[in-house]
This record gives sequence, structure tokens and C-alpha cells, in this order.
Amino acid sequence: MLTVAAVKALAAAEIVLYDALVGDGILDLAHPNAERICVGKRSGRHSLPQGEINALIAFHARRGKRVVRLKGGDPMVFGRAGEEIEHLDSLGIPVRVIPGVTAALGCAASAGLSLTKRGVSRAVTFVTAHGRDGERFEPDWARLADPQGTLAIYMGREQARAVGQGLTGAGLPAATPVLAVENGCRPDERRYWTTLGRMAEQGVAAGKGPTLLLVGEALRPRNAVDDMVGTADPIDLRALGDLAERLDHD
Ligand SMILES: C[S@@+](CC[C@H](N)C(=O)[O-])C[C@H]1O[C@@H](n2cnc3c(N)ncnc32)[C@H](O)[C@@H]1O
Repeated sequence: MLTVAAVKALAAAEIVLYDALVGDGILDLAHPNAERICVGKRSGRHSLPQGEINALIAFHARRGKRVVRLKGGDPMVFGRAGEEIEHLDSLGIPVRVIPGVTAALGCAASAGLSLTKRGVSRAVTFVTAHGRDGERFEPDWARLADPQGTLAIYMGREQARAVGQGLTGAGLPAATPVLAVENGCRPDERRYWTTLGRMAEQGVAAGKGPTLLLVGEALRPRNAVDDMVGTADPIDLRALGDLAERLDHD
């Protein structure tokens, strides 16, 4: 899931610095001669420290290369893009940001559920349940526990029980629907339905893939909120590559 602008930038790239969360197949859209450099967690390696990533982008840009810094979802949502932009700005290197499809929007779309709903949910909050460098982090549950809002909780799988306890403790009904989406918008997408009360006791049954928690009445499925698992239709990335080529010609 990415914008046409992103496809075109990839097709024109000479260097692509990419993260582990980038979906399979997207790298294939880069120019065949582009150098692809993984800076995220891959095959047991840790991701590069942020300072080294900043330096790598600057190094290649100063060699006069067209550099694409490829991130999963939207770079400006829990993506540390701000730190990279600040660094490049300080060196006078021009930057263009191309928006992406953040996990909250992609996961809601593939589940066919609207994050807002007339008379049910009038706000969407993107929040993380993850502290900086593994620090413990206690969100302001009272502020988040809005019965007329939808929460999109990033990096929340490990903290799922604490999230359930925090939100029910702050007054959200235990029956509030929760949809956990693992590997959203990918061929191996899986969806897990539960309720806040059940999540407070058991957490979520999602596997090791990136998982987003969506919480709120707007997500109440048409069927009963029970543990259901679904899969997504694979996206034809080859067709997207052909589209980018055609757009470049037009
Ligand atoms: C460091 S944040 C990056 C968010 C990303 N910039 C975005 O806009 O989606 C990583 C978290 O985003 C969520 N996430 C990213 N990709 C996802 C996917 N394909 N399916 C479900 N959740 C995803 C998960 O909560 C994951 O722990």
C-alpha cells in the first residue's frame, strides 16, 4: 500500500535505505540499479543506531545521489522521520516527504471498518503504548478513555493487557470491541477480535509480526465480537511497478 508519488520516487532512486517494516515486494519497485541498504532489524541483526542512519543518508546525498529513505506506513507517524529531517536540514540537504498509508488507516481499510462513525465515534487518536528505549511508559488513560472515540494503538501487542486494564480502569466498558491486526495490508495479514475486558485478562493472541490495536465502538463487527481470524487479498505489486513506468512516460 503506497502512493503513486512513492512508486515514482522509488523508480528514480539511486540509493534506497529501507526499514524492516517495509512490505515484501515494495523494494522490487526501486530502479533495478538502485543500491538497496537495510538499516532496520533483519535476519537477527539490530537496526542501525539513529545517528548512523542520519549519517548514511547525508553521506549518499552529498555524493549527489538520489536517496530514498523508505519507511513502513507513514514516515511522520511514529517513524522518527523528524530526527532525520532535522539532521539533513542542519546540513542544508533538501528533503521531500512523501506521505504513506499509516497502519491505522491501512488496517481499518483492509478490515472494511470505518474509524469514525456518525453518532458512535467522532475522534481518532493515534497513540503508542511503548516507552522510549524500552522505558516503562504509562499513558494518560483517563484522557484516552473516550467512549465516543477510536484508539489506534501502535507498538501495543506486548502491553495489551496493561492497555486493557488501563482503559477499563479509566471507565471504558469491558465490552468495547478490540481488533488487533497483525501484518496489516500484507498477504499474511491476520485479524484477532476481542474485547477490552478479555484483553485486560489475556492480552492478544497475535503472533510476532507488527501488530496494531484498534479499540472502540466504531469497530464493532457485524457479527458477534468473538475470536475471528481473517486474511487479506495479496496486493499485486508487479502491476503497480508497470503503472509507475506508464506514469513516468505520460
Ligand atoms: C515504529 S511504528 C511505525 C509506524 C509506521 N510509521 C506507520 O505509519 O504505520 C511500528 C508499529 O506500527 C504498527 N504497524 C506497522 N506496520 C504494521 C502492519 N503492517 N500491520 C499492523 N501494524 C503495523 C505496529 O503497531 C508496529 O509495532
